[in-house]
Amino acid sequence: MYIEKLYVSTFRCYKQSFVGFKKGLNIVVGDNAIGKTTLVEAIHTLCLAKSFRAKADAEMIQYNADKFAIKGEFSDGKSKKTVILLYSNNLKRIKVDNEFVKTLGNYVGNLPVVCYSPSNIMFFLSGSLFRRKFINTMLCQLSREYLFVSNEYNKILKERNALLKIMQQDSSVRNKTLLDTLTERLIVEGNKIIDMRCSFVNNINNVLDGTYKRMFGSFDELKLVYLPSVEKKEFCEKTKALYYEEVKKGTTQYGPHKDDYIFIINNKNIGEYGSQGQQKAALLCVKIALSEMFCKEKKVSPIVLLDDVFGELDASKQNKLLSLFQNVKQVIMTTTTLSDIDKKMLINANVIYLNEKEETQHGRK
Ligand SMILES: Nc1ncnc2c1ncn2[C@@H]1O[C@H](COP(=O)(O)OP(=O)(O)OP(=O)(O)O)[C@@H](O)[C@H]1O
Ligand SMILES: [Mg+2]
Repeated sequence: MYIEKLYVSTFRCYKQSFVGFKKGLNIVVGDNAIGKTTLVEAIHTLCLAKSFRAKADAEMIQYNADKFAIKGEFSDGKSKKTVILLYSNNLKRIKVDNEFVKTLGNYVGNLPVVCYSPSNIMFFLSGSLFRRKFINTMLCQLSREYLFVSNEYNKILKERNALLKIMQQDSSVRNKTLLDTLTERLIVEGNKIIDMRCSFVNNINNVLDGTYKRMFGSFDELKLVYLPSVEKKEFCEKTKALYYEEVKKGTTQYGPHKDDYIFIINNKNIGEYGSQGQQKAALLCVKIALSEMFCKEKKVSPIVLLDDVFGELDASKQNKLLSLFQNVKQVIMTTTTLSDIDKKMLINANVIYLNEKEETQHGRK
């Protein structure tokens, strides 16, 4: 599906605002701090029930307000869907065609989104938690099973860690038996996650390298590498062997919650050796590969959100980048200026100018 209309209310810098989008390429243009990323964030939050930049949902409430709302009208050419997200009192509720969804888990994945934002570069700058979240956001949309299994795993992990802390004072037989049960459940769910992560990385690699070569015209080989903290066959053994250490530390030492990922080009970790351009390219290519996976495997077209993507890319790469998204029905990108953009690309694009005078309504040009 693609988004046709977006309404936001007391959402960051927007008091009340409406933006119209169309199928194909949409370019949101405006000065710094005018609200471009905020629009992309609103669509992301509406479709995935989660922002890509806010640490807490409350950050998105406009200063001095106490709630926000986002409404989107979606279409697939034939049918329409209206989705409303309401946030107030620390609670997020979503209505699809006037009916509240019961669990967010059943909602996520229905309106797939592939989003590139300059903050993705944190993949190379921050710790493994960011990288796991980065990949998890992709996996949860592709596989509802993954979402449920990882929720289950996190629940067991929390329980197990709490018990390990209790066992620092009380390592009675009763607690030891309980720990064994939790360990077994953790290993069962953990092994499922390891399998799903392995197969996701294999699938994405089938597309990734070709995408990189097409975009950059290079012969270098790009790969995403999954680094599980523990191999499936050793998970059980290691966890049992670590009994005393885990009780001492009060936390679970091995498992998917400690996994990591790296990108390699010609067998070199580009987090360590890659140029900034190569790092950005790897992240963009993984997003392109993901959108291809949606189109081919799931037979759905994601909405592609590209925030500030053209910086540092020359005209030919800009064109190539967009042509690599040609299978998707809608691309929404932001930029501060159209002057660097190839004029040919603008012919069929829906250009949306944001400016301060038009405070409440941003129509189509
Ligand atoms: N909760 C909030 N309430 C009100 N305003 C906010 C809130 N959070 C952020 N802002 C403001 O919203 C404005 C728009 O931010 P946004 O990141 O969307 O700008 P942008 O157009 O993407 O800018 P740039 O080109 O620099 O990336 C900024 O002035 C920011 O300070
Ligand atoms: Mg921005």
